[in-house]
Amino acid sequence: MPHNSRLAIVLAAGLGTRMKSERPKVMHEVANLSLVGHVLKAVSGSGIDRIAVVIGPDMLELEAEVAGRAPGAGCHVQGERLGTAHAARAASAAFADTPDQVLVLFGDTPLVSTQTLLRVSARLESGADIAVLGFHAADPTGYGRLLARDGQLLAIREERDASAEERKVDFCNSGIMGFRGARFAEILGQIGNGNAKGEYYLTDAVEIANRMGLSVVTETAEEWEVQGINTRAQLARVEADFQTRARLAAMEEGASLIAPETVFFSHDTRLGRDVLVEPNVVFGPGVVVGDKVTIRAFSHLEQAAVETGATLGPYARLRPGAKIGEGAHVGNFVEIKNASIEAGAKVNHLTYIGDARVGAKANIGAGTITCNYDGFLKHHTDIGAGVFVGSNSTLVAPLTIGEGAYLAAGGVVTEDVPANALSLGRSRQVIKEGRGEQLRARFARAKAEKQGGK
Ligand code: UD1
Ligand code: MG
Repeated sequence: MPHNSRLAIVLAAGLGTRMKSERPKVMHEVANLSLVGHVLKAVSGSGIDRIAVVIGPDMLELEAEVAGRAPGAGCHVQGERLGTAHAARAASAAFADTPDQVLVLFGDTPLVSTQTLLRVSARLESGADIAVLGFHAADPTGYGRLLARDGQLLAIREERDASAEERKVDFCNSGIMGFRGARFAEILGQIGNGNAKGEYYLTDAVEIANRMGLSVVTETAEEWEVQGINTRAQLARVEADFQTRARLAAMEEGASLIAPETVFFSHDTRLGRDVLVEPNVVFGPGVVVGDKVTIRAFSHLEQAAVETGATLGPYARLRPGAKIGEGAHVGNFVEIKNASIEAGAKVNHLTYIGDARVGAKANIGAGTITCNYDGFLKHHTDIGAGVFVGSNSTLVAPLTIGEGAYLAAGGVVTEDVPANALSLGRSRQVIKEGRGEQLRARFARAKAEKQGGK
């Protein structure tokens, strides 16, 4: 079957009232990616190239997220929130041409994998009219129950409508359903709202299909992969499950995590081989780490690239645009933003490098600050290869320090320094013999007078 005849509909219009949030539920994040972003990533990876996302009215932030994560996807607005079948109908323009398959996914079920979606799709290819992805829930409360007999799924019963007996069933609806495209519009059109909540339930499609004599099957996934998020506690649970998997994956790929449970990854973190990650390291989005890098404890990285053999931390902070070259060292309490630290350079202690280049093998002394901002604009600092920047230097950008220059400690450097020059940017030291002793005596007298007066 040609893959371009598959359509995925992602339902994302729900407000998620139980989250008690100003944001649409699917804009909440797991591993620094929105819930709907995770779903779009899985769908895009499965070769399904047509995606329709159902959003609520005035969800501009969500619309922008969809455009950014799945540029080809169309957004369809569900005016009122009258249930999951009503939401699917809002995308009717997307299935008017009767695709071969329609996969419906929920924006609040983020961890579903591409492979699992392909398994659902394969069931349709091998003859099923509907394939529902189910899982065995440790606690099924809140989920629709799958009522099956002899391999045929007879009904999905929502918690509110289920009998006490049906509630004991632990085989639950993940929300991911595949439909033979030729039947989809017809089935959807028959769904009513005669249930406890007065909503149009997509899950009713199963009983309708049974009445039509169609084949309805189940495919099973593990619970961690298809758990849905209706509350902030469930959001935290999914985050924890994501992190557990990301840590295992990093170790399988050849990174050592000394205390994996204390390391936090983003959805797109990439680590090379023989990377050592000490405890309590946080990877924000957009981090790529090369081979043999050591990241010492309590470091925080985001939108940063670290090349082979570099050493970071403890307590290093890499902000967006940080590029750490091969074998470079970034030490404790050092913040790097939009700057490249080239091969073998060292920035070891208590330093801020922003909007700058630090050339190969340069050495930046403790307490050095690039003054990159004048309150209006950001300015660049260029430090050539092999430069020595003495401790407590204040580098006022825009500024260029030529290769091999030597900056004496404590300088306020406002003028460019030519290659191999020495720059002294501080007032001259003055020595007064014996004056230390005199001062001490004077202060002691002053203290005695003050105390005597009380
Ligand atoms: C739904 C399923 C339930 C399943 C569970 C899995 C139905 C009726 N119930 O319940 O069987 O076990 O998911 O997590 O389908 N949405 C809209 N418009 C609406 C209503 C919902 O776009 O009018 C979207 C939501 O944004 C959400 C998804 O559909 O992404 C599911 O809605 P939600 O309210 O979370 O349904 P559940 O109660 O979780
Ligand atoms: Mg839900």
